[in-house]
Amino acid sequence: MTGIAPLTSPWPTEREVADEVPIGVDPDRARRALEEVPLWFHTFCLNRDHDLYTPGQARDHGYRLASIPESFEGLSVLDVGAFDGFYSFLAEARGASRVLAVDNEQYIDWVAARWGVRLAGGEGFRAIHELAGSRVEYLRSDAFALEDLDERFDFIFCFGLLHRVENPLGLLRVLAGRLADGGRMLVETYGVPGDRGGTDGALYVPAPGDVYERDRFVYWQFSSGALANLVACADGTRFRLHGTPLVDGHPRIIGVAARPA
Ligand SMILES: C[S@@+](CC[C@H](N)C(=O)[O-])C[C@H]1O[C@@H](n2cnc3c(N)ncnc32)[C@H](O)[C@@H]1O
Repeated sequence: MTGIAPLTSPWPTEREVADEVPIGVDPDRARRALEEVPLWFHTFCLNRDHDLYTPGQARDHGYRLASIPESFEGLSVLDVGAFDGFYSFLAEARGASRVLAVDNEQYIDWVAARWGVRLAGGEGFRAIHELAGSRVEYLRSDAFALEDLDERFDFIFCFGLLHRVENPLGLLRVLAGRLADGGRMLVETYGVPGDRGGTDGALYVPAPGDVYERDRFVYWQFSSGALANLVACADGTRFRLHGTPLVDGHPRIIGVAARPA
């Protein structure tokens, strides 16, 4: 597997990230999709020449790109907590042979609370899936139910999810169990302020609604040491830290866990 580079700033802009998944549909079709989906979480480039991008609410995802392999050629990929599925479609665009996107659509509640928009669930994903003629499979399911899935993956995206589940160690265990031998799991989650990659295992528990106004689903903030210890407890492997950036005022943490071949 190639393309794991160190995290350096400045990061690509949201639109430069979106350009990594070229969709390029007819402008009228693109405009219809923009009208039909009431809220986008991810920014997608629908037609670059006509400057048609989805107005994604997620900010500053550019720091993640350096951690994502440039080629997924022939790999099977699981994207857990996929929302609109940007990372699923990116893996497909970079050559993945199979991509499964999973989401329990918990976001319906926090999108309503934060932005007052009522989503049915999956509409952004379905719109891009159709526009891109994608073969990514979507499963509306809780991540913990993946324990019963009879499939293993070469690569797992666990982005923006760990701080939103009540049992993060349990989730890492379930996902580690879905990794093929030699597989990798890229983990990105909410961090703690001023984390310089130390080894103390500090874990913060923010008050409900403190991290994002009216969003009561953020339970944890992980230091590098805490995340490394959790990964070690989950599957005995080492967590390799890529970075602890401050993103749009929020501390984040990203790194990779690899399963021996
Ligand atoms: C903040 S979004 C992150 C979206 C995307 N992974 C990213 O990082 O850009 C978190 C996503 O995880 C989903 N989610 C939360 N808990 C989940 C669970 N237990 N099982 C599956 N999906 C879950 C939410 O519905 C939401 O789509």
